[in-house]
Amino acid sequence: MMKILFAASEAIPFIKTGGLADVVGSLPKYFDKEKYDVRVMIPKYLCIRQELREQMKFVNKYYVKMNWRTQYAGIDEMEYDGVKYYFIDNEYYFAGPRPYGEMYQDSEKFAYFSKAVLEALPVIGFQPDLIHCHDWQTGLIPVHLKVDYAGNDFYKDIKTVMTIHNLKFQGRWIMSEIKDVTGLGDEYFTSDKLELYGDGSYLKGGLVYADMITTVSESYAEEIKTPHYGEALDGLLNARSHELRGIVNGIDYEDYDPKTDKKIAVNYDVSDFRKNKIKNKRALQKELGMEAGDGKFLIGIVSRLTDQKGFDLIAYVMDELCADENIELVVLGTGEERYENMFRHFAWKYEGRVSANIFYSEELSHKIYASCDAFLMPSAFEPCGLSQLMSLRYGTLPIVRETGGLKDTVEPYNEYEKIGTGFSFTNYNAHEMLDRVRYAQSIFQNKKRDWNKIVESAMTADFSWKASAKKYEEMYDELVGEK
Ligand code: ADP
Ligand code: GLC
Repeated sequence: MMKILFAASEAIPFIKTGGLADVVGSLPKYFDKEKYDVRVMIPKYLCIRQELREQMKFVNKYYVKMNWRTQYAGIDEMEYDGVKYYFIDNEYYFAGPRPYGEMYQDSEKFAYFSKAVLEALPVIGFQPDLIHCHDWQTGLIPVHLKVDYAGNDFYKDIKTVMTIHNLKFQGRWIMSEIKDVTGLGDEYFTSDKLELYGDGSYLKGGLVYADMITTVSESYAEEIKTPHYGEALDGLLNARSHELRGIVNGIDYEDYDPKTDKKIAVNYDVSDFRKNKIKNKRALQKELGMEAGDGKFLIGIVSRLTDQKGFDLIAYVMDELCADENIELVVLGTGEERYENMFRHFAWKYEGRVSANIFYSEELSHKIYASCDAFLMPSAFEPCGLSQLMSLRYGTLPIVRETGGLKDTVEPYNEYEKIGTGFSFTNYNAHEMLDRVRYAQSIFQNKKRDWNKIVESAMTADFSWKASAKKYEEMYDELVGEK
């Protein structure tokens, strides 16, 4: 039996700010349980729902040394959906209403978390063959493992994988601060180690010291080796290209299943979507006070409202788009204030046709995936993207820019061969996007049979975790040797 530990800052259902939580909270379920014992370790944030916190069982406590500090750590455990979770407890670091940017500097918080993960292992009696680290918050784990624990029998054979979910977030701080919280000496802050443009970066540390690097789609794995997408780390990623691979994300087919989803108005599947999917659209139009009409082209957006997701393109052509009385747009998201206000403004201006829902709601997100005709995701870059996979599963056709995971998961409709699962455009250009939206709308309105055929292809495309979990297993086998 191979023992794997996932270390991350988020996992559903405990805490989520983005797709990272979906991945960490669903992928472990899909490994072959006869061969892989995969457990997950995350912080025990005070903002985790009380009902879940109450189910966690205290295991033990220990102390974590961080340079001159010695900090308390408690470790709790809980089994969820057949997967064992551990929670690192420290009310000083993990208090506050959100996981990041609250109370204590994230630099210290996640330096603590990385060290606490490593120190927890003997305490819980779990000696993993491999630690799978996710994003910058866990970047120091491979660093400490190689630098501080190499001579320790318990740790010396543990392998590490560093997965990049988003290269833009790098955990970058001034060097003196990192030295102070980690105790790492000057020699680790050179350009071939943690140093990045005069600062230090946790993610870079992870990328330098991990045995293997992965990211969440094949296209993004290629893109990040170029200066345009490389976020100043393309040199390093090129140098390590033999240890860098792209494994596309899946989604949890149990949570996202239009046939059984309790959050949506009417269930459907590929055999009866022609009759029943539309009932969800009617219900959503009603719920959100939008104009009724089966022929309206209802476009959905569920997203963090940030530059990454291409909202400046939408801002640029919003009036042109809405000039057509048959267009309806429903947005669910939070993020940068200018985008929140932009959608509030357009909801006021096009009342009844634009619905701005500036909050977080799991339930409304499912309703949008199920109810809309199309889903718009014109990202500037996209490591993988899960929203378009959810849309595909519900037969809501994605309109995406051909970048990263969007390019790998949405097959653009080809009207001559009549194949495809959605629509896409190449350049980061607002009118190119608008053109694709109008093209999709014309098929929706004038060629219903073709449209339904695309919906059928979308709903039957397989983005469950099955294939990708296998790829991770193969990689673990390569690194650890079969067990
Ligand atoms: P990213 O991780 O870059 O934000 P992904 O597409 O990988 O993008 O994942 C986004 C996840 O967050 C999806 O599960 C999506 O449904 C969810 N999500 C984003 N914004 C909201 C919101 N306001 N309410 C509910 N779910 C949201
Ligand atoms: C990041 C990326 C997103 C990806 C998610 C999960 O948040 O922005 O593209 O799907 O991580 O890997």
